[in-house]
Amino acid sequence: MSYPFQINSLAQYHADYKAAAENPDVFWANVAENFYWRKKWDKALDWNFTEPKIEWFAGGKLNITENCIDRHLATMADKPAIIWEPNNPEERVRTVTYARLHKRVCQFAQVLKNNAVKKGDRVCIYMGMVPELAYAVLGCARIGAIHSVIFGGFSAQSIADRLEDAQATFIVTCDGAYRGEKVIPLKAVIDDALIGNKTVKKVIVYTRTRTPVSMIKGRDIWWEDEMDIAEDQIEKNGVVSFKAEEMDAEDPLFILYTSGSTGKPKGVVHTCAGYMIWTTYTFVNMFQYNQGDIHFCTADIGWITGHSYILYGPLAAGATSLMFEGIPTFPNAGRFWDIIDKHQVNILYTAPTALRSLMSFGDEHLLGKNLTSLKTLGTVGEPINEEAWHWYDDNIGKNKCPIIDTWWQTETGGCLITNLAGITPAKPGWATLPMPGVQPVIVDEKGNEVTEADEHGMLKGNLCIKAPWPGILRTTYGDHERCRVNYFATYPNVYFTGDGALKDAEGNYRITGRVDDVLNISGHRIGTAEVENAINMHSGVVESAVVGYPHDIKGQGIYAFVIYNGHHGDENLRRQDISQTVAKIIGAIAKPDKIQFVKGLPKTRSGKIMRRILRKIAEGETENLGDITTLLDPDVVAEIKDGKV
Ligand code: WTA
Repeated sequence: MSYPFQINSLAQYHADYKAAAENPDVFWANVAENFYWRKKWDKALDWNFTEPKIEWFAGGKLNITENCIDRHLATMADKPAIIWEPNNPEERVRTVTYARLHKRVCQFAQVLKNNAVKKGDRVCIYMGMVPELAYAVLGCARIGAIHSVIFGGFSAQSIADRLEDAQATFIVTCDGAYRGEKVIPLKAVIDDALIGNKTVKKVIVYTRTRTPVSMIKGRDIWWEDEMDIAEDQIEKNGVVSFKAEEMDAEDPLFILYTSGSTGKPKGVVHTCAGYMIWTTYTFVNMFQYNQGDIHFCTADIGWITGHSYILYGPLAAGATSLMFEGIPTFPNAGRFWDIIDKHQVNILYTAPTALRSLMSFGDEHLLGKNLTSLKTLGTVGEPINEEAWHWYDDNIGKNKCPIIDTWWQTETGGCLITNLAGITPAKPGWATLPMPGVQPVIVDEKGNEVTEADEHGMLKGNLCIKAPWPGILRTTYGDHERCRVNYFATYPNVYFTGDGALKDAEGNYRITGRVDDVLNISGHRIGTAEVENAINMHSGVVESAVVGYPHDIKGQGIYAFVIYNGHHGDENLRRQDISQTVAKIIGAIAKPDKIQFVKGLPKTRSGKIMRRILRKIAEGETENLGDITTLLDPDVVAEIKDGKV
C-alpha cells in the first residue's frame, strides 16, 4: 500500500516539485490533510526570512503522538512499531507493537505529570539506545514538554551547558549504556553535570546495565517504580488512556543542540506540525516506504537523524522501525549484516563513515549473510566517496537496490536534497535533486546567484534555500537573534546552509562540505572554535588553532596546532593530557586526531589566524600554500611545515 502523498514516478516528481514551488500553501495543505488534527489550521503558511518568522498551519491544533501512535491503533495495534536489537546479540530482542508503544508512552506521560512536569517545560534526555528512550521522547511530546536529547558521548560539562541554556527542570537517564564491550556510566555523568545546577528538580533513572549509581533523596527517582505507579493510573478495565495535550501547530516540540562556527552549540528548535509533516513526507518519499517494510536507521537518537528517521517520521507513517543499541563492529564487523539477515530488513540507512569502517574490515564479514530482503539503501551525514558508494552498491545492495544520498541538517528537520529510491536517478557522490518544497540556490561570496557554469559545466558556490519548507528550524532556543545572524543574515532573504555545492546541467546537486568553521567528524558536527576553547582550557596551553583534514574512515579528522608553555615532560603524555581535557569539556568525540606543538601560529597583522594555510599544511600540501606575504611573521610557516605530524 502506498501513501496518498507518495511520489510514484519521475513525471509525478516533476509535477509535485512544480506545484510545491508555485503554491506551497496549497500543496502542503493537501499533504497535511493526511494527518490527525484536533482543529484545522487557519493559515497554511506565513513567513519572512528577515526576522525570521516562519509559521506553518497556524491556528491548527494537534498532538504529534496521536499521529505517531493513536491513529494507527484501530488497524495496526499488533503491528511492530519498534523492533529493538540489543548490543549483545545473545540478549532477547524486544518487539514493541503500536498498542504496547501506546501504553508505554501514556505511562511515561503520566510519570511526567506525577512529577509536576508541564507543557513547555524542558526535559533533558541522556540515555542509551533502549526502547525506553523512545517512550521518554514521545511521553514528553504527549504532554507538550519540550525534549532535548543529548547524545551519550557528550561530557558532563557539555550537558551542564545545555541544561543551563534550556533551563531544564527534569532529566531522564539510565544507570549506564552498553556500547560494544564498554559500559558508559550515564548517571554518573549526569551527577557531575548537576554540580552547581539550579534548575533541575528531578532525575529519573532507568536500569539498563546495573551499574552502581548514587541516588539522591528528593531528586533521583527510579523509572521502574514510577512506571508501576503510573500503570494503575492509566489503565482501567484493560483500557489504556492518557489524554494528549492539545498543541498549537507552532508550539515547540523539541530542542536539539548542534555546533556552529562560533561559540557554544545552539539549541535548534523544531515545532509540532511542520516537523511532523516534513519528516513523514520525506520518510515515505525518499525511501519509498511501503506498509510492512522493516526500516533500519543506524543513527543514534541523540542526533537529528535518529529523531526524524527512527522515531517521528517512521512512526507517523505507521512503519516498523528497527532500533539498534550497539555499534557496527561488536561482536564483529558483520553486525549490521547479521541484523539485516535476522530481521529481514528492507531499508538500510547509515553513514558513509560506518561503511568505510566496515569496508576496512574486509568482505569476509559478509560471507553467509542473506541480504536479499534489502530493497533500498541510504546514506546521510557527510559526502560519500565513490569507492564507498560502489562497495555499498556491489556488496550490500548487490546492484539491485537504489542508493539514496540524503543531504540535510539538524536545522532542516528532514532531508532536503536526495534522489528518491527507484523514482529519480542516482548519481554516485551526488545528493541529486531537491525535494518538492525545497528551492536551492547557489550564491557567490557576496550572495549573488551564480549563473555562469565553470569549465566543467558546473555552477559552484555556497548553498542557500530561497523559501521555507515545513521542517525548517523556527528559532534557536532563548536567542532568536542568534538564529537570524547564523542562518538568515549572511545573505539577504535566503536560508544559508553553511555548505558548499556544485550543480550540474541536469539540476543535480553535489554537496562539497562545510564552508564555515564546522567540522564533520564521522558524520558528527563539531565547531573548530569549540575544540579550540576546550584545548585552551588545558593549563599549559597558550593558544591553539584547529582545522579539519581528510581522514580515510572518519571523512574528516581533527588537527590541532598548539602553542604550549606548560610543564615540559614527554610530548606524547602532553598530547594525551590535552585530549583528556577536550574529552572532559566536550566529549570523547571531539578528541584531536593529531596534535602538533608549534612556536607560533600564522597570523595576519591584525591578529587573525590564517586557517587557510594551516588547513593546507594539515592536508599535506607543502608547495602551494597561497599568499603568505601578509603574515606578521612568515617564518612560522616553514617551521610548522617541518614539524608536521
Ligand atoms: C553534512 C545530519 C554531504 C553537511 C543530517 C551538513 C552531508 C551537515 C550530507 C549537517 C550528504 C549531511 N552529503 N554532506 N548527504 N548529509 N551532510 O546537522 O555538511 O548533523 O551541513 O545533520 O552534514 O549535519 P547534521
